[in-house]
Amino acid sequence: MEIKNVTVIGGGTMGNGIAHVFALKNYNVSLVEMNSELADKAIATITKNLERQVKKSAIKEEDKSKALSNIKKVVGVNNTPVNSDLIIEAIYEEKEAKLKVFRELHDKIKEESIFASNTSSISITELSAVTRPERFIGMHFMNPVPMMQLIEIIRGYSTSMETFEAIKFVAIKLDKIPVEVFDYPGFISNRILLPMINEAIFALMEGVASATDIDTVMKLGMNHPMGPLTLADFIGLDVCLAIMEVLYNGFNDPKYRPCPLLKKMVAAKKLGRKSGEGFFKY
Ligand SMILES: NC(=O)c1ccc[n+]([C@@H]2O[C@H](COP(=O)([O-])OP(=O)(O)OC[C@H]3O[C@@H](n4cnc5c(N)ncnc54)[C@H](O)[C@@H]3O)[C@@H](O)[C@H]2O)c1
Repeated sequence: MEIKNVTVIGGGTMGNGIAHVFALKNYNVSLVEMNSELADKAIATITKNLERQVKKSAIKEEDKSKALSNIKKVVGVNNTPVNSDLIIEAIYEEKEAKLKVFRELHDKIKEESIFASNTSSISITELSAVTRPERFIGMHFMNPVPMMQLIEIIRGYSTSMETFEAIKFVAIKLDKIPVEVFDYPGFISNRILLPMINEAIFALMEGVASATDIDTVMKLGMNHPMGPLTLADFIGLDVCLAIMEVLYNGFNDPKYRPCPLLKKMVAAKKLGRKSGEGFFKY
């Protein structure tokens, strides 16, 4: 099945990045937001990011104009075009909210279309159960989407081989590198990354070293481009905690217990960059 019409639900950090990369590759993109202002904000962000690419000579001015002309703004999930070949959900990381979107789309959208979720941690198998499980898949893009090469492609329990192959092909057409992963809590990326971040927070809590020194060890000693505490601030501490809870509950294994300092900082609304303070001040 040829994928040409792509709908992205949610135009936040990830959704606008996903719409951006599809539009640059000449897909017809519908960008769905909750209201007109949020949709305009998402398109303004895409415009700004495309302009930055033009300035860096990564793309030409006409690529930018073409990409923007490929994006259509849609308000409300109920107005999702019925002829979408691929629908990628990128709304908040809340299971009930995501299930509601897929339930609503199920009866409306043509049967051959593929539904994907960009969830960081929620089970693809559970999300797929409210619609067509064999045509449902995880497409886990990385932030910032236009810059990052990887897409983790997560196969739910019932995802068909045909669906997987179609999505793998799309990822390659986007000039991304797809990696096949099966549906277990945290997939691969967050199952490995988040326990490392959580351990860095334990080390800080126990006074093993300062936040700056913990990050310096990992940057200079392990050649990580960014220390784990800086990265946690970038991801958002609330998001880090939510993912640790998915790992902890999903595996029922105490090795994934979220660090008490992480919980305390989230309760204090020290969420990292987005709140102006986390392990560091912004
Ligand atoms: N931020 C990251 O680094 C990152 C990385 C990979 C995956 N993810 C995942 O991507 C998803 C989105 O994360 P984000 O960081 O972009 O969140 P975000 O809060 O920046 O954006 C979510 C957007 O969804 C919109 N939205 C919510 N409900 C909607 C609805 N019913 N219809 C239309 N729009 C709706 C909101 O208005 C908001 O603009 C989450 O599942 C998250 O776990 C995030």
